[in-house]
Amino acid sequence: MTWGGRFASGPHPDLVRLSASIETDICLLPYDIAATGAHARVLSAAKLLTDRELELVEGALAVIEARWRAGAMTVEGDEDVHSLVERLLTQELGDVGARIHAGRSRNDLVATDLRLWCRSEAEAVVGLIVALLEALRRVAAPHVHTIMPGYTHLQRAQPVSLAFHLLAHGFAMVRDGWRFVAAGNAADVSPLGAGALAGNTLGLDPALGADALGFGASFDNAMDAVAERDFACDFLYAAALCGVHLSRLAEEIVLWTSTEFGFARLPDEWSTGSSMMPQKRNPDLAELIRGRAAGGIGDLAALLTLLKGLPLAYNRDLQEDKGALFSGAGRVRAGLEAMTALVGALSFDADRLTGAATGTTMWATDLAERLVARGVPFRRAHEATGGLVADLERLGIGLADAPVDLLKSHHGLLEPHDRDLADPREGLAARSSAGGASPERVGEQLGRLEEAGAALRAVRRGA
Ligand code: ARG
Repeated sequence: MTWGGRFASGPHPDLVRLSASIETDICLLPYDIAATGAHARVLSAAKLLTDRELELVEGALAVIEARWRAGAMTVEGDEDVHSLVERLLTQELGDVGARIHAGRSRNDLVATDLRLWCRSEAEAVVGLIVALLEALRRVAAPHVHTIMPGYTHLQRAQPVSLAFHLLAHGFAMVRDGWRFVAAGNAADVSPLGAGALAGNTLGLDPALGADALGFGASFDNAMDAVAERDFACDFLYAAALCGVHLSRLAEEIVLWTSTEFGFARLPDEWSTGSSMMPQKRNPDLAELIRGRAAGGIGDLAALLTLLKGLPLAYNRDLQEDKGALFSGAGRVRAGLEAMTALVGALSFDADRLTGAATGTTMWATDLAERLVARGVPFRRAHEATGGLVADLERLGIGLADAPVDLLKSHHGLLEPHDRDLADPREGLAARSSAGGASPERVGEQLGRLEEAGAALRAVRRGA
C-alpha cells in the first residue's frame, strides 16, 4: 500500500476490492514505466537521486517492463498500475525505490500515463483509417463509369457512379483521421510535475519530464493538469463519430447485399448462415459494425457524464475514465479493421447497379437544367419536366420513346435530342461541376483521396 501512516487500521477488504483498478489499468504499464523513468530523471536533475541511483531505477524499470511483456508479471493485491510499479521498484531497490514518489502523485502520474496512451492510440487508429482509405480507393477506382442510382430519402434521385458513392464514405473517413490527429495533439501536453494538484516544493522542473517523454508541451496550471480529461473526450468523440461513419457504410453494405438491391455480394468467408433457414446468407459483420457504433456513443456519453459537475481537482471518479476510453478505442479499432476487410471482400454487380439507374426518371433534374440553360426560369422548367414525367408514366413509356409533340406540349424549348438523357451516362457526364459525379471529376476525387491518405500517413510518421 502506498499510504497508511496516519491510519490505525488497514482498509476494509470490500473497499480494497471496490477500489482496485489494476485489472483495467495494467495495460498502462509501459507508459507508467516511461513516466516513472522520466520522473527519476527530473529527481536526478534536482539532485534528489544520484547518477548511480538513476541508473539503478532505469535498470529496474527495464526489468519490470520485460517481465510484463513476457507475461510473467504477478499482481499481489496491488490497487493499480502505479502502486504496482512503485512496489516492484521498492522491492528491487529498497530505499532507492522508496525515493521515486517524491514530488509526484498518482494524480499527475495517471494523467501522464493516459495522455501517453491516448497519443499512441490515436496514432494507431490513424494508421487503421489510412488502411481503410486505401481499400475504399482501390475498390472505387475501377468503377468511375459504373452507373448506379444516387439516393435521397432512399428513393432514386440522380445517376451517380459507384466510385463517387464509395468516395463519399472515404472523405468522411479522412476527416475522422484528422480528428484523431487532433485528439493525439490534445493529449500531447505533459501533466508530470503537477503533483497532487499544486506543484512541488522540491525544485522539480516539469519541462524536463515533458521533454524526457517527448511531449510537445508541459502544463500551464497544475490543478488543470490533474483534473482535466478533455483530451480523452476528444479521443472518444473522434471514436464515436468514426463509429457512426462506419455504421452508415455498414448499413449500405447490408442494403446492397440484400436480394432486393443485389448490388454487391460478400464471399462465403465474410457471410454467415442461419441456424434454422438453410438458404440464408447474412451480412453479420456489417451489422455488428453498425451495432457497435452504439457502444462508441455510449463511451463518449459515459466520460462526459463522469466529468460533468466534478469539482476540481482530482476525484476518484476519474478512475472510471479508463473503462470508457479503452473500450472506445478497442471498438473503433475493431470496426475499422472489420470494415477494411469487408470493403476489400465486396464484389459488385455492375449490370445490376447500372440496371437500377436505367429506365428510370432520374434524368428529370438534368432535363430541367437543360431548359434553364436555354433561358427558362427554373421553377417553370421544373413544372414542365414534372408534367412530362407524369405523362410518360401514364403512357408507360420511357423518355427515349417520347414523341416529339409530347415533349413540345410540355415546353417549346424541349428538343428531340433531349431524349438522349434517357441514357443515365449522359446526365452523369454533364454533372461535371467541382466535386460532382462526372467520371472526370471522380477521377480527381480519387487523386485527392490518395493525397489525403498520404498526408495522414505522413503526420503519423512525424508523430
Ligand atoms: N487508480 C487511480 C486512477 O485511475 C490513480 C489515482 C489515484 N489517486 C488518488 N488520489 N487516489 O485514477
